Amino acid sequence: MNDIRILLGGDDQELVATFRAVMVELTGFELVSFGRTSNEVLGMVATDQDVDVVLIDENIGPVPAHDLVREIAMRRPNCAAVLLCTTVDESALTRALEAGARGVLSRQPSLEELQSRLSTAAEWSRGMSRWIGGGHVEAVGGRRGRIIALAGAKGGTGVTTLAVQLALAASSQRPDRSVCLVDLDLQAGDIPSYLDMVHRRSIADLIEVAGEITGPMLADALFAHGEGPHVLLAPHEAERGEDVTALATRQILAALRSRYDIVIVDCGTFMTEASVTAVELADRVALTVMPDLPCLRAAKRMVGLWTRLDARKSEDIIAVLTRQSRKNEIQPDFAARILGLALAKTTIPPAFRALEKAINNGSLGRVEDDGFRRAVLQLAGELGVLGLEPADGGGGARTMTGTP
Ligand SMILES: Nc1ncnc2c1ncn2[C@@H]1O[C@H](COP(=O)(O)OP(=O)(O)OP(=O)(O)O)[C@@H](O)[C@H]1O
Ligand SMILES: [Mg+2]
Repeated sequence: MNDIRILLGGDDQELVATFRAVMVELTGFELVSFGRTSNEVLGMVATDQDVDVVLIDENIGPVPAHDLVREIAMRRPNCAAVLLCTTVDESALTRALEAGARGVLSRQPSLEELQSRLSTAAEWSRGMSRWIGGGHVEAVGGRRGRIIALAGAKGGTGVTTLAVQLALAASSQRPDRSVCLVDLDLQAGDIPSYLDMVHRRSIADLIEVAGEITGPMLADALFAHGEGPHVLLAPHEAERGEDVTALATRQILAALRSRYDIVIVDCGTFMTEASVTAVELADRVALTVMPDLPCLRAAKRMVGLWTRLDARKSEDIIAVLTRQSRKNEIQPDFAARILGLALAKTTIPPAFRALEKAINNGSLGRVEDDGFRRAVLQLAGELGVLGLEPADGGGGARTMTGTP
């Protein structure tokens, strides 16, 4: 049998040193990597499918340890999480098990304790991997959709237009795939006016039940649009936006991800706990930017904010230039240099008249501008919205050219 691969998550140097020292004594186990923050751990678990056991310090942040365990259970049901606790008692064990962990362990374990807990956890993990077939099942129930989060560097850059267009494109191009459009612009969400729809329910109806969302609850809260996508609206009363906490967002997006193939999230421009969480959880994050200096600077501030909050690294964000034409003074390469971000190969051309007409007619699905429609389809392919990963995995984006 191959060595059991262990990942350690925690920012306490003493703890890391203790485990490093004690692990060397064990044969058959390999401490393969360390993650300082919960986001790092999640990223590692998602990318390294061969990790068998994750040891998580109960003090890890910014996402609390128990929420991290829940997220791991959701993303990698065959990976065993064990919580490292200062006090190992019945209540610590109950809480850990409820979150989906395989057990708890003292932060200063004896060699025997460590060996026995790791062996049990790994045995479970490998059994589970065999059972679900190779360890690549990505969600409970075997289904894991793709989340694409879109945010605007500034107000009015066209993020809602793009979110709606991408959702419509995904539905029309891939009728075999289920598509969900989520309005997480909690203060100013205005998707209904773009999709000519009226619906009383919203994300506010899911907050209370976020931890135990069922199919019927979703069916009740979402609006099934005639052109394909199902839509989850922002709260009708803006003040209820504050109730959409990071945890609720995490749970709601997890529920959507397990039931839809594609989940497109309009995060708006004003960052809240909810939108930052979406940016953190998404498979792809796109930032809409118009080719003018104030907007490019605003984009940099947004990326700085996400980085500081540990939600997303800049190399993991793609910028989309909107209302871009050859006549603009700022051209894509220059924009990419200023931004220090990867830029989507596709830029969205201006389409004022056609969009105005489509909105007035209550149908963004029929924008009479070939260039605009082509760009949306191309971008949908680049962002993986059509369910097919681009060949180079990075969407063929212009590479980051550094910040001057
Ligand atoms: N490519 C485009 N060409 C021309 N006009 C556009 C384009 N994209 C969006 N618009 C127009 O710009 C306005 C703002 O678009 P939209 O609401 O999509 O932006 P937003 O970034 O979501 O704004 P907000 O900050 O209000 O959420 C709308 O009138 C829309 O029709
Ligand atoms: Mg908007």
